[in-house]
Amino acid sequence: MGVYADYVVPRLIAFSMRSKEATRIRRTVVPAARGRVLEIGIGSGLNLPFYGEDVSAVIGLDPSRQLLAMTERSGRGDAAPFAVDLTYGSAEDMPFEDRSFDTVLTTWTLCSIAEAGRALAEIRRVLRPDGALIFVEHGRSPDLGVRRWQERINPIWTTLSGGCNLNRDIAALIRDAGFAIDRLEVGYLVKGPKIATYHYEGRARPA
Ligand SMILES: C[S@@+](CC[C@H](N)C(=O)[O-])C[C@H]1O[C@@H](n2cnc3c(N)ncnc32)[C@H](O)[C@@H]1O
Repeated sequence: MGVYADYVVPRLIAFSMRSKEATRIRRTVVPAARGRVLEIGIGSGLNLPFYGEDVSAVIGLDPSRQLLAMTERSGRGDAAPFAVDLTYGSAEDMPFEDRSFDTVLTTWTLCSIAEAGRALAEIRRVLRPDGALIFVEHGRSPDLGVRRWQERINPIWTTLSGGCNLNRDIAALIRDAGFAIDRLEVGYLVKGPKIATYHYEGRARPA
């Protein structure tokens, strides 16, 4: 820990996640959440305005006290027409009961979780059998040239970004944790370097 990790990284995350393209994606992805929702890595709370009427409560989990404080200060939780509960903690070991959520939402978070496989096993544990994992994540490109650069740059990228990885095969991680993917859209975003913009967006259920 230090000034960079405690002060700079949370502000970089909060700023970079407000891009127009990210906002456009949130607007299309987040409204699919239903019932009691667990948002993994809620960050600065940028998804909160996009939840729809079918949501009864959002529990937002994050291991960054700075980002949780930003969510609180933003007032986005107070403005929501459902209960919002912010919980300090890590997705690899969650303080929630088995089968207690209808939806788990993760947006640009699986890249940053140190043990993503363990976190996905936890997500599967807390999801109801008829629940859904809704995700939008960047990750490993299928193009060899891009992938080589992802591998080369990943060590320095991870250090500077506070733990984000460029090279994770998000669909494989989700399937390996015991999910069936019902819908998956992949491709590069319009803007930004290819190493950081190959996206996986979709919906999965416990298999
Ligand atoms: C790039 S930010 C995305 C934030 C937010 N999901 C959004 O869409 O704006 C990655 C988030 O993952 C969180 N994170 C990192 N490690 C985590 C872990 N082990 N469990 C849960 N969240 C984690 C970070 O604190 C940060 O809020």
